[in-house]
Order: sequence, then structure tokens, then C-alpha cells
Amino acid sequence: MKSAHPTPVLAWQEVLESIRPELELVEQRFRSELVSSVPAVTAIGEYLQISGGKRLRPALLLLAAKLFGAAGPSAISLGAVVEMIHTATLVHDDVIDGADRRRGRPSTNLRWGNHTSVLAGDWLYMQAFKNALQERSFHVLDILIELTQQMVEGELIQWRMIGRLDLTVEEHLDLVHRKTACLFGACTRLGTVLAGQDQPTEFLLAEYGTNLGMAFQLVDDLLDFTASEEVLGKPVGSDLREGKVTLPLIYLLDRCTAEERGMVARVIEERAFQTVPWKDLLDLLWRYGTPARVKEQAGLYAQQARDCLEAIPDSSYKRALAALPDFVVNREN
Ligand code: IPE
Ligand code: IPE
Ligand code: MG
Ligand code: MG
Repeated sequence: MKSAHPTPVLAWQEVLESIRPELELVEQRFRSELVSSVPAVTAIGEYLQISGGKRLRPALLLLAAKLFGAAGPSAISLGAVVEMIHTATLVHDDVIDGADRRRGRPSTNLRWGNHTSVLAGDWLYMQAFKNALQERSFHVLDILIELTQQMVEGELIQWRMIGRLDLTVEEHLDLVHRKTACLFGACTRLGTVLAGQDQPTEFLLAEYGTNLGMAFQLVDDLLDFTASEEVLGKPVGSDLREGKVTLPLIYLLDRCTAEERGMVARVIEERAFQTVPWKDLLDLLWRYGTPARVKEQAGLYAQQARDCLEAIPDSSYKRALAALPDFVVNREN
């Protein structure tokens, strides 16, 4: 597909290529920081590190830093920090959601139980902040603390919204902003701060990351309906079973008949596809053109992300950042 943006579009592998040495250093740092004197923490740390993941958040931080000519030890260290924060939120999220799979393997809560997983998540948060503290920068700490609180608030708000069929698009987008977009925005912002850029530039790159994060989570919510578990590495259909009304459902409920609305309500009540088969619900989504509407909304955020880069001089890092919105919208896992 042709992009409206004049900058040539790169494939994901090419995006990673431009920061490969730094990403490898982040990985080494991440691995070496997940070690504790308590064996359970080290075992979980190793399990999480080996399970992989896209490492999108450190990639964003590194690309923003390199965009402005900086990618020294601080960028490596904070790259590991944002991945630790992300990992901690996933561990807690899987406990809250009662999820049994993550990255194609049993989730930590399934393997080690809720008690150990919650504590390991707490340990990871603290390890992230211990590393961040080494930067001796209040500005960096401000960004990280604010972002972590927003993410926790997001999970709390989501918990309160469980089962609510009357959720508005605005309420849902606020949730997406807190639980996912803030971290993306913080990554690009931190990279910019490390490169010593002025405040308008810092905010511009934060806006780029935030818009990218919005697109990312909207597509994640769509993939929960349209992807296969093998490709996604985590269960599909889980949001609805957990009573989470995400954008695909909000759009569907906004157009479907009272009887069809009753089908959605039944799945949420039963917390399972019991009297309403999964296939019937999927048919309904496609019949009302819901996936296309969600993709369109994600596409608008992707465009806003690209627009933020307009005034930045051309470089391979700018091209990589300009390629990410398309990658995020068209991803399959
Ligand atoms: C999962 O994020 C959590 C969401 C924000 C949807 P990723 O899809 O980036 O997770 P990994 O790190 O690649 O597994
Ligand atoms: C993702 O929430 C956001 C986080 C902060 C973990 P989800 O519950 O939608 O993420 P997945 O689908 O479990 O990865
Ligand atoms: Mg979840
Ligand atoms: Mg999800």
C-alpha cells in the first residue's frame, strides 16, 4: 500500500537494523538486571527475558535518541528500564485478567501462581526505578513516575469498567491512553530528553509516541477478535470473556439490533462463549464492518504520529520512526 507520507516506508526488520547494536546492549542489560538473591525472582526474570517480545518500547527510546544524535550509556540503561516497566505491567495484567498464556508460553501466574507473580512484578518495578535513579535526573524520574501511575490508574479504571455495555468511545480512549499510549509517549520523550532537546521538541516526540501507542492498543483490541492464538501468542476472544468492552464492541453495540446486543450481554454474563458461539459473534462483527472502522480509527492516530515528524530533518532514524505507524496498524501479532 502507498503511504501519503513522502518518506519511503521501511519494513520492521529494516527499522531494527538501524539500532541493532544498541538493542543488543539493551538486551544484555535487561538480562543482567533481572537477577536477585531470591531464586523465584531470578527464575521469573529469566523466563520473561527468554520469552522475547517485540522490544518495541526500547526501540522507540533508542530511535528518538539517535534521531537527535545521542545513544550513549544512558539510552541503553533507560531502554532496559522501559522494558522492565513494560514487563512488570504484563505480569500484573495477566494476574488481573487471569490470563493463561503470554508470548506463546504459559503466563507467569499460571506457572508460579498469583502471589509470586504480583511480588515479582513489584520487584521488577523497583529494579526499573533503581536503574533510572542512576541517571541522577529528576526530569527522567518525573516522566517515569507519572507514567507508571497513569498505567496503574488505567488498570484500576478498566477494572471498574468491566461488564459495562454503555461505555462511550471517549471513556474507552482515555483508558487506552493511560494503559498503553503513555508508555509509548514516555519512551520517545525520554530519548529526546537524553539528547538534550528543548521542551517543544520533547513534547512533539512525546506526542508522536502517544499517538503511536493509541494506534497500537486499538489494533491489539482488534487482534483479540481477528487473529489466531498461534500467531498472537496469547488467547483470542479473551477481552469479551473477561467482560472488557473494547472499541470493536463499542462500534458493534452502536449499530446492532437489541437482540444482537443481547448476544453480547450473554457472553459477558456467562464469562464464556457458552450459549453464544464465538463464530456467531465474529460474524456479527464482520457483518457490521467493525474491523474496518477500528482500523480507520487506528489509521487516524497513525497519521497524527507521522505528522509530528514533519519538521524533523531527514535521516535513517526519521525514516524508521515514520515507518512504525504503518507497521503498528498492519501488524499481525
Ligand atoms: C502487549 O504489548 C501489551 C499491550 C500494550 C497490548 P506488546 O504487544 O508490545 O508485548 P510484547 O512485549 O511484544 O510481548
Ligand atoms: C494491555 O492490556 C496494557 C497493559 C498495560 C498491560 P491488555 O490486557 O489488553 O493486554 P494483553 O491483551 O493482555 O496483552
Ligand atoms: Mg491482559
Ligand atoms: Mg488485549
